[in-house]
Amino acid sequence: MKGVVLAGGLGTRLHPLTKITNKHLLPVYNRPMVTYPIECLVKAGIKDVLVVTGGNNPGDFLKLLGNGKEYGLENINYAYQQGEGGIADALALAKNHASGGPICVVLGDNIIEKNIRSAVDEYHKQGGGARILLKRVENPRRFGVPVFENGQVVAIVEKPEHPPSSYAVTGIYMYDNEVFDFIGTLTPSQRGELEITDVNNVYIRKGKLAWSELEGWWTDAGTFDSLLRASNLVAQGGANNV
Ligand code: DAU
Repeated sequence: MKGVVLAGGLGTRLHPLTKITNKHLLPVYNRPMVTYPIECLVKAGIKDVLVVTGGNNPGDFLKLLGNGKEYGLENINYAYQQGEGGIADALALAKNHASGGPICVVLGDNIIEKNIRSAVDEYHKQGGGARILLKRVENPRRFGVPVFENGQVVAIVEKPEHPPSSYAVTGIYMYDNEVFDFIGTLTPSQRGELEITDVNNVYIRKGKLAWSELEGWWTDAGTFDSLLRASNLVAQGGANNV
């Protein structure tokens, strides 16, 4: 299984910090943000990774990550997303990297405490389709939120005003190669983006989406509050331990 870290977009919620650098190069405690999702993949045994960047400072990713060896990678590729067409738009750039096989995608601003290896193992056993990782959160409104029926996820609603459950869909997704066909059928959402939630809903409609609950803490780092929270969590407990 190959890995994909999505670190495109313009990070407008973090202006003015993101006027001078890419959001994923900002510090989370003692390291640049993008190194955490890379570590998450490496600790799950995924060492061939594509980093999708965007915005004004793509060359700085190369300066930081180089050939990836320092971070435990065997191979690193880079792609550039023009504009801010959404998470699924950025993921479309991973088609060649995936070369027909399954992929594990981690959003560049997602940081976890523990390891996703068991979820990756479960994905391999399920025989194709998609697998998402869910986490119970205090305020699901900021996220994609699953609707459950008899323990199955039957729909995902993006940033609902009235959340149908107390879970967030984290930014860690596993897909088979059909994902690229599904992205091709999407149209932009109201915020003008190709939404990863729409991709996941296609898998749900086809009866091909499974889920696992993420162990340990999880946070994104795309707002001032969550960036601070991420730094504090890492400082207190480390990330990707175990
Ligand atoms: O963090 C988990 C949440 O991430 C999910 O619960 C939501 O369902 C999902 O839509 C996403 O929500 P956000 O609104 O928080 O996504 P955001 O626009 O902040 O983008 C998250 C990362 O995705 C960002 O750090 C880099 C990557 N991205 C995003 C966009 C819009 C790209 O690579 N390209 C893009 O165009």
